[in-house]
Amino acid sequence: MTSTSFSHPLPAHDAPPAATVRGLSKTYGHGDTTVHALRSVDLDLAPGRFTAIMGPSGSGKSTLMHCLAGLDRPTEGTVAIGGVELTSLGDDQLTRFRRDRLGFVFQAFNLLPMLTARQNIMLPFELAGRRLEPGATERIEQVIDVLGLRDRLDHRPGELSGGQQQRVAIARALASDADVVFADEPTGNLDSTASGEVLSFLRRSVTDLGHTVIMVTHELDAAAYADDVVVLADGRIREHLVAPSREQVAATLEAGVR
Ligand SMILES: Nc1ncnc2c1ncn2[C@@H]1O[C@H](COP(=O)(O)OP(=O)(O)O)[C@@H](O)[C@H]1O
Ligand SMILES: [Mg+2]
Repeated sequence: MTSTSFSHPLPAHDAPPAATVRGLSKTYGHGDTTVHALRSVDLDLAPGRFTAIMGPSGSGKSTLMHCLAGLDRPTEGTVAIGGVELTSLGDDQLTRFRRDRLGFVFQAFNLLPMLTARQNIMLPFELAGRRLEPGATERIEQVIDVLGLRDRLDHRPGELSGGQQQRVAIARALASDADVVFADEPTGNLDSTASGEVLSFLRRSVTDLGHTVIMVTHELDAAAYADDVVVLADGRIREHLVAPSREQVAATLEAGVR
């Protein structure tokens, strides 16, 4: 699955970024035990692209994603998603923004066990007490078909394989037409076949459905499904590779550990 990877055309130059980060720093702890997880990071991520965030363990990947997704507050700097500055929102506004505008796919699937696949997919709408806007039903049905979940909708998570559960989680993230879908090691609990499926579906959600996906991964095979790769080292951006070859990504990662 490397032949189609890293080869997607760039969006128009005038498209505003899906995510903008300026001077982003995050420190944990105080005094002697201070950890600088992120050190003054600047980053622009284009819309309609699949970006992989890579780097060694402890380089700040999860911290960056959590700050980008409004799950954590930076120590310094700003984060804007689709022009909305998350850092200026109060806690309630931020919660609403996450629910209405962002999608999440986690390593641990995070599905509710007593709900069917369809109920899990519809959960964000239920929680928001949201009426389906015009076109939403068609969009959700399309997502279900793209993810190959049509014949699994009445099953509960316990009756689904890991790969199917992760596809339900992706469908839930896409159903609400999120501005940005965040995925943190989404294939961490899957075997290689299921991983390939899940990554193909994330890829299709970008190529066919026009979503913006930001995925944290430490696997080169997973990153090969992405358009662009941000490589972190010690809380800094080592490289923002636009449509790189697999060899370029591998070389940049290797340079980081030398
Ligand atoms: N809640 C926390 N408290 C203290 N240190 C943390 C916390 N979260 C992350 N760190 C530290 O910040 C650094 C970056 O962590 P993280 O973003 O999880 O890296 P990665 O996802 O690339 O493995 C690491 O040194 C880690 O130990
Ligand atoms: Mg991590």
